[in-house]
Amino acid sequence: MMPVRFKVNGESRELTLDPRTTLLDALREHLHLTGTKKGCDHGQCGACTVIAGGRRINACLSLALQHDGDAITTIEGLGTPDKLHPMQAAFVKHDGYQCGYCTPGQVCSAVAVLDEIARGVPSHVQADLLQRPQASNIEMRERMSGNICRCGAYSNIAEAMADVAGGRG
Ligand code: FES
Ligand code: FES
Repeated sequence: MMPVRFKVNGESRELTLDPRTTLLDALREHLHLTGTKKGCDHGQCGACTVIAGGRRINACLSLALQHDGDAITTIEGLGTPDKLHPMQAAFVKHDGYQCGYCTPGQVCSAVAVLDEIARGVPSHVQADLLQRPQASNIEMRERMSGNICRCGAYSNIAEAMADVAGGRG
């Protein structure tokens, strides 16, 4: 067993874990933050997406110990039912979900994607890597391609993202 300390949703947390514990299991099973979902548990669906150190990651592909000292944001840390994050509010407004299982991962990814675009992080669909990326529909769809939705809410998710991005999509 090994100790790990990280800040989750602004709160310092300390756990003693089997070193093989994934970040996803640490969040769900040890910290009881069950908003982050386990879909495939091997990096194919994006349901487990959280923001760690400012970057979106698949929590199922990452060991908790790798995040010692990191600041981690899960869906519980983005907003509350009374005070939704603008992306959560946009998902509600645009009906960006059906069953909701993929939604926490979609929302965390969407928030981080708009941040990536604002920071000028390039993508595969960018025609000119020297130009700053725009929050276009194709950019957002490419960057969200790791988040699978079995219900097929993709168009509404893209609309929600475009709304938060200021209609630029
Ligand atoms: S549960 Fe992590 S990618 Fe599917
Ligand atoms: S809303 Fe059901 S899987 Fe996406």
